[in-house]
Amino acid sequence: MCGIIGYTGSGDAKKKVADGLEILEYRGYDSAGALLLGNGKTEIIKTEGRVSNLKNKLDTLSSNFTTGIGHTRWATHGAPSIKNAHPHRVCGVCLVHNGIIENYKEIKKRLEGKGITFQSETDSEVACALIDSHFKENVHPCVAILMAERELIGSWAFAISFDGYEGELFATRRGSPLHLGKGKDGFYLASDLTALSSFCDEFYTLHESEIAHLFENKALIYTPDGTSTPDWQKNEASYTKADKQGYEHYMLKEINEEPRLVRNALLPYINRGLPDFSSASFSYDLFKDISKIHLVACGSAMHASLLGKHFIESYAKIPTEVFVASEYRYSPPVFEKNTLVILVSQSGETADTIASMKYAKSCGSLTLGIINAPSTTLARESDFCIYTHAGQELAVATTKGYLTQALVLFLFALFLGLGKDKLTENEARELTNKILSVDTPILETIKRQGELSSLASQLVSSPHIFYIGRGIDYYLSCEASLKLKEISYINAQAYEAGELKHGTISLIENGTPVIAFATNEELFDKTVSNLKETKSRGAHTILFTGDFSKSLDGIADECFVLEGKDKIDMIFSLVIALQLLAYECANQKGCEIDRPRNLAKSVTVE
Ligand code: G6P
Repeated sequence: MCGIIGYTGSGDAKKKVADGLEILEYRGYDSAGALLLGNGKTEIIKTEGRVSNLKNKLDTLSSNFTTGIGHTRWATHGAPSIKNAHPHRVCGVCLVHNGIIENYKEIKKRLEGKGITFQSETDSEVACALIDSHFKENVHPCVAILMAERELIGSWAFAISFDGYEGELFATRRGSPLHLGKGKDGFYLASDLTALSSFCDEFYTLHESEIAHLFENKALIYTPDGTSTPDWQKNEASYTKADKQGYEHYMLKEINEEPRLVRNALLPYINRGLPDFSSASFSYDLFKDISKIHLVACGSAMHASLLGKHFIESYAKIPTEVFVASEYRYSPPVFEKNTLVILVSQSGETADTIASMKYAKSCGSLTLGIINAPSTTLARESDFCIYTHAGQELAVATTKGYLTQALVLFLFALFLGLGKDKLTENEARELTNKILSVDTPILETIKRQGELSSLASQLVSSPHIFYIGRGIDYYLSCEASLKLKEISYINAQAYEAGELKHGTISLIENGTPVIAFATNEELFDKTVSNLKETKSRGAHTILFTGDFSKSLDGIADECFVLEGKDKIDMIFSLVIALQLLAYECANQKGCEIDRPRNLAKSVTVE
C-alpha cells in the first residue's frame, strides 16, 4: 500500500510534501517520512505513526527546500518502525516505494555477497540498493532504474532522488499507481490525483514502461523508444480540505451524508423514471447476450456485491456469483460464453480487484467497474465504468461507499431486468421510484442513533458476537460483522441463520450476544426460531426486524424495529443501523474510529 508524493520546483517543498502526505494518509499510517533537498542541504526525516507526527518534525526545520519526496507507510515487510520507514537511502540513491518486491530475498543475498549492508527489514531498501548498484556503474539514473526493473519481480511505484542530480526527481511504476502533476511552480508526483488536486491543473498517469524525469521547469518521459514530454490532461479530481463539520468523527459525518447520497448515486442513471446508463456510455445492447455475471471485489465492496447478486438474481434472473478478488484468479472461475465481470471498488485502486479485472479481460470477458473515485486505475481500465458519486470518503471504514455501491447495483439490476423482459416497464418504474425514496428510512434510522447507542452498551464488553440472517439478511450480517470488527476490535461472525446449529452454536455461552436480521416477512418465523435456539443456550438476543404486525413480545431480549414499510426500505434502514451500531460500540470503547489499527483505506498490494 503506502502513499507517495514528490515535488521539485520553485515553491516550498516541505509544505507540499507534508500537505500531499496528509491527503494520502488513507493509504497507510504506520509511519511517514520525507527527503528534502535544496540550497545544498539534505534532510531525511522519519516518524512512526500518523502523518501529523512527521508534520510536527518538519515544522522544526528552518531551511527552504525546493525538492522533496514523501511517504506514508502501511507495513508489509518489516515492523512499523522508524528503521523501516521510507525514504530509504543506499549510497547515492534515495527512494520511496509503494508495492511489494517479491524477489527481494534473492536480490538482498546477492547484494550482501557484494558487501552491501542493509539497515531495514524492508523489500524497498533492497530495490534502492539494486538501483544504486547500477548507478555506481556510472550510468544515467534512467538507465540504472531500467536495469534494476529488469531484475525486479512484484509491484512498485518509486519516486527516486539521485546524488548529483539536485533539483531532479525520477519515477517509475509497475502495478502500483503513480501520476505526474504540472503546477504553476513546479512538477509533482503522487499516488493519487486528489493529492495533486490542490497543486496542479494538469496530470499525466505514468505508463508501466515509462520512466519520468522531473526538473524544476520541465518533465520528460523516457521509454525504450525514446524521450518525449507528458501528454498532460486536465485534472478533474478535487480534494475537499478535511473537515468533520462538527461531527466527532469522519465516519459519523459520512453516515450523516447517506440520505443525500441516494439521489447523488442514482439520478445520473435515471431518465424519465427508468434506469438509463447512457451517461456511463452504454446502452442495454451491450449486455443483451450476457448470461452470467461475476461480481468481484474486496471487503465491504464484496459485501455490497452480495447485495448486488441478490438484486440481479431477483430482478434480472441472471445467475450471478460473487468472488473475493484475491481468490478470483485462483478459484478458478468458470467463464461461460458471455460472462460479464463487474468489479466493485470505492477507491478504484485495490490491487486484487485490478488484477481480477486484468485477468477477466485476458479471458475475453466484458468488464464493468462500479467505482467511486474518478480517474483511478479501475475506472480507466475497465471496459465501462459506473461512478457511484459518494464523494471523498475519509474514514477508513466505508459507510457511504458501501451504501452507494448497493444502490447502483440495485438500479443496474433493474436495468438488466427490464432489458431481459423479466420486469415490465411499470414494475421497473415503480422499483426505480422505490429505490429513490430510501433516503427517508435512511434518515429516520440516523435519527435513532441514541437507541443504537443503548444497544451498543450491551455489546461492548463481549469478546465475540454473532450476526445471523437468511438470504439478503445474511449478506447484511456479513457487512455488520466486518464493520464491528474493524473499528471496535470485537470479534464478530456472520452466519446463515439456519447454519449456526451445525457446529458453531457450541460457542454460545451465557450472555453471548446473537443479533438476528429479519427484513423479509416470509423468513421472519424461521429466523426467529434460529434466534430462539441460541436463547435457549443462554444467548443475549437482539432482533432487527420490520413492523410486520406480529407481536414482538418475548421474541428477543431486545428488538429494533426498522424504518419503512417494505423490504427495500428495511434493507436500507438496516444498512444504516449496522453502521451506527458498530460506530457506537467503537466510540464507547474509545477506539480510534477513523484510523483503526493495522488498516488502510486503499489496499494497493496483493
Ligand atoms: C480495504 C478497506 C475496506 C474496503 C476494501 C475494498 O480493506 O479497509 O473498507 O471495503 O479495502 O476497497 P475498495 O476501495 O476496493 O472498495
